Amino acid sequence: MKILVLNGPNLSRLDLREQNHYGEFDYPQLKKAIEDKAKALGIEVEIKQSDSESELISWIHEAADKKQPVIFNPAAFTHYSYAIRDAVTMLTAPVIEVHLSNPLSREEFRHTSVISGVVKGSIAGFGVESYNLALIAMQKLVG
Ligand code: DQA
Repeated sequence: MKILVLNGPNLSRLDLREQNHYGEFDYPQLKKAIEDKAKALGIEVEIKQSDSESELISWIHEAADKKQPVIFNPAAFTHYSYAIRDAVTMLTAPVIEVHLSNPLSREEFRHTSVISGVVKGSIAGFGVESYNLALIAMQKLVG
């Protein structure tokens, strides 16, 4: 079973965002790092990014139908999208929330995650390593 790695809005433009939070990686490099780690662990990943809430929700619905495990960086939707939260509650395989930065050390509006309460666990603040740690945790969860 392929693990779905879902990335939310503005993550495709990482290289143009605050380097103190997101490092110097651009999105293709982030994708490649995730693919390389997955390969090293012997697991298959499918990596998708969208700026659209509706498209992310459709992909979550598909993952729910396929009972697919999901590693999810909802980006800014983390902080306010009840529609995405409701979609995530339909997933029956494990879901891990990831963030490159540590939202709790940033602006107050980032201190709330409406997603954290409906996932298995959350990993934040380690840059690309957040995804690598999520892959390791997911491998232990789903074998
Ligand atoms: C983010 C953190 C969010 O607060 C922000 O809106 C993002 C990226 C992260 O990976 O650190 O777009 O999810």
